[in-house]
Amino acid sequence: MRIVITIGGSIIIKNHDYRMFQDYAEVLRQLNQDHEIFVVVGGGKTARDYIKIARDVGAGESFCDDIGIDVTRLNAKLLIMALDPLAYPIVPRNFNEALQYSTSEKIIVMGGTEPGHSTDAVGTILAEFVKADLIINATSVDGLYDKDPTKYDDAVKFDSITPTEMIDMFSDKDIKAGTYEFFDMTAIQMLKRSRIKTVIVNGNSPKNVIEAIHGKIGTKIYSPNE
Ligand code: UTP
Repeated sequence: MRIVITIGGSIIIKNHDYRMFQDYAEVLRQLNQDHEIFVVVGGGKTARDYIKIARDVGAGESFCDDIGIDVTRLNAKLLIMALDPLAYPIVPRNFNEALQYSTSEKIIVMGGTEPGHSTDAVGTILAEFVKADLIINATSVDGLYDKDPTKYDDAVKFDSITPTEMIDMFSDKDIKAGTYEFFDMTAIQMLKRSRIKTVIVNGNSPKNVIEAIHGKIGTKIYSPNE
């Protein structure tokens, strides 16, 4: 299968150490034996810290987004190094470059692309661009909940959901740099259009990505036949 894996920055750079990069590299190495792998890495708290400084010195929102993108690309570079020599050594800046580099048959690792959306959106656009069979979204919770499970004890997890149901749930969320919610609108609209099967999974344990590929855990986003 051709699989796009998006790894939240809040997962991979959480403790500012090398271990998560190495642990993810190990899982990706394993998956690369049977699948064609594309990875999109997020910016996490580091991106939000830099965005805050940019905003405080007077930058506009798109400039702040661009700062966030720079941080996601730094994280992508670190993962490329951890995967050496299995990853293509350059971080693609756009989807055409990702496609072009993939002819090397190496694992492609990228961060953000342009202002206005999250790396979740990048993952969904990339998946459509390279005709992926599956998207795995590794995030900091076990799946998609009806409200933030870190804030509300009564939050309920979805085993499966459609993009249309997600649009209804998320239509009033924030769109400022560094605050794109869990699956921003661009990401959801892309899933609705491409109908690529997606699984949201807790990425704090990188092995969960393998379990999610086998359909054992997480929240599945699927498009019913209309
Ligand atoms: P992320 O998508 O990583 O956002 O990009 P996040 O909210 O930090 O998510 P986690 O913590 O990784 O899960 C960081 C910021 O970079 C900008 C946005 O401002 C985003 O909030 N960005 C990223 C873009 O503008 N365009 C992109 O393609 C990617």
